[in-house]
Amino acid sequence: MPIRRSKILVKWIYENQHKMQTLRRCSSTLRYKELEENVQALEHLAPPATEAALPTHQPRPDITPDVSFKYDDLKVALAAPYQLQRKPEAVDLGFGKYFTDHMLKIHYHRELGGWQKPEITPFENLTIHPAAKALHYAVQLFEGLKAYRGVDDKIRLFRPDLNMHRMNLAAKRSGLPMFDGDELIKCIKRLVQIDQEWVPHSETSTLYIRPTLIGTEPTFGIVAPESAMLFAILSPVSAYYKTNSDGAVSIYADPSVVRAFPGGVGNRKVGSNYGPTIEVTSHAAKLGHQQVLWLFGPNQELTEVGAMNIFLVYINENGEKQLSTPPLNGLILPGVTRRSILELASQWEDVTVREEVITMDRVIQLNKQGRLVEMFGAGTAVVITPISNIGYKETNINVPTMEQEHPVYQRLKDTLLAIQYGHIEHPYAKIIT
Ligand code: COI
Repeated sequence: MPIRRSKILVKWIYENQHKMQTLRRCSSTLRYKELEENVQALEHLAPPATEAALPTHQPRPDITPDVSFKYDDLKVALAAPYQLQRKPEAVDLGFGKYFTDHMLKIHYHRELGGWQKPEITPFENLTIHPAAKALHYAVQLFEGLKAYRGVDDKIRLFRPDLNMHRMNLAAKRSGLPMFDGDELIKCIKRLVQIDQEWVPHSETSTLYIRPTLIGTEPTFGIVAPESAMLFAILSPVSAYYKTNSDGAVSIYADPSVVRAFPGGVGNRKVGSNYGPTIEVTSHAAKLGHQQVLWLFGPNQELTEVGAMNIFLVYINENGEKQLSTPPLNGLILPGVTRRSILELASQWEDVTVREEVITMDRVIQLNKQGRLVEMFGAGTAVVITPISNIGYKETNINVPTMEQEHPVYQRLKDTLLAIQYGHIEHPYAKIIT
């Protein structure tokens, strides 16, 4: 074949390889190798101009710590057939137990000019220096978003721009390098396209995307790391929490523990907000509750529940059905699901929507007056989880969430899932393939 035509063919294969998962899996090792060699040959024939001029260890003048990595620089190395994992059955998925065949990695080295070229590689363990700041001072952050396989077989992401924004806020707080969220979305899209057969063919499962940014500089100073690594891994998941047989959870409110405090990082998705919740959550489990209701301050204000935002539905002073959640006062994660719920329900005429301080006394009073109708938690992992009981100071507060004929939580959940799985077209859902 003339060299030009073969170059065009190889380029087409390279750009469309994500559509050929089945073909790739079925193809012989020989055929696979040929493809790889062709791609390498193509790269050799036409190296990117900036790279050609620079030895690899030299700083790249076009990339500074303030300027992002670029999707256009993305390099893809596909897993060989023998590296492809067996896909688990949907019933076995659980949450975050299985991982796909590829991952995204983007290194940052200040002395090399900042962000390096993004790479998609076969899924592999990381090698990390034992003194890396991420391991000692939790100089790290993570995100959680999902790819949904719609009824039309198209794959959608849900408001990924909001996750990117939140990542950059958390990066800033921990001295980690910031980046252009649109570029990361493009890299993640490519990763999901490559591993698209891992997006479950089911409306009760999804592909959870976990972008993570860690400080890798191996020194003990508590200062902004000179080196960092952003990676994204993918995990096919089903339900996050185990619920009671009615689908609801019981939560435990202990006023003596807090998840976050004013001026802290309760509003940032950093690992240090989650690890220290384990002891209390285990204690709650021993008492028969699935999650912890996080209170704050002398008035015992509700902040979050488990790793979710908290919502109440009650009959307000005007006799209206009111959906309420605490305001973003620095203690609360600005959840993507939280924001979507507020925006969607604001368009409904039969529900009043408010962000307001909610104290335990208020919950108890509303419940005593028979005005508390529902409570639920909301987050990317769970979507929406109804709450039917609060364990509080040796007593149980029964919340009648599961006794409602047309509960608000179910209507919201149905609306979100309809958008996410493509039953309705909506600007929140971005089709990626
Ligand atoms: C989410 O629902 O968005 C979460 O982050 C949950 C995760 C910490 C397991």
